[in-house]
Amino acid sequence: MNKQRLAFFASGRGSNLKAIVSACETNDLYAEPAIVISNNIDSAALTWAQEKDIQTAHFSGKTHPDEQERDTAICECLQNNHIDWVVLAGYMKKIGDKTLKQYAGRIVNIHPSLLPKFGGQGMYGLHVHEAVLAASEHETGVTIHFVTNEYDQGDIIMQETVPVIPGEAPETLAARVLELEHRLYTKALKYLFTS
Ligand code: GRF
Repeated sequence: MNKQRLAFFASGRGSNLKAIVSACETNDLYAEPAIVISNNIDSAALTWAQEKDIQTAHFSGKTHPDEQERDTAICECLQNNHIDWVVLAGYMKKIGDKTLKQYAGRIVNIHPSLLPKFGGQGMYGLHVHEAVLAASEHETGVTIHFVTNEYDQGDIIMQETVPVIPGEAPETLAARVLELEHRLYTKALKYLFTS
């Protein structure tokens, strides 16, 4: 079997990107990190990928003011790079219709809660964990799911839970959830590649 070629989409710090690339390097995950795409030219994820000599690309309102043209350019970039799977890792934009259609069932995302709880627009970063604590949940977790044109709404591929410690700070909860994220994303990709 050929190595699965991965395109990562990341807007920020890129810790999930790093975890998956590291799994590729050790052959824990039989895949090739082919390209890192970002809407944010200043993102740590993009800088890190450049330092690792992983190919990068920047698509944003600055490079392509027209949304449809941007979607077309992203889709062509994926096809030109023979991408098998699109891995969203902290990507803060929606995926365009053309790319969604072309890569149907091959675009996945990670979310730091037990979807459908605490998902959707505005539910990112610490907001998610603050909402979990405000709702006095006993447990939260991580969801890996397929991507649609609505935030956090595609079919769920894998979920695992993390206990919530009453009275803890959102930052400590976020850190414990992130630890699980780094393990679960690789686990879910392995599952997808072999099923
Ligand atoms: C993660 O919490 C992920 O679940 C969410 O965005 C965050 C990205 O973090 N979609 P990082 O950039 O991978 O460190």
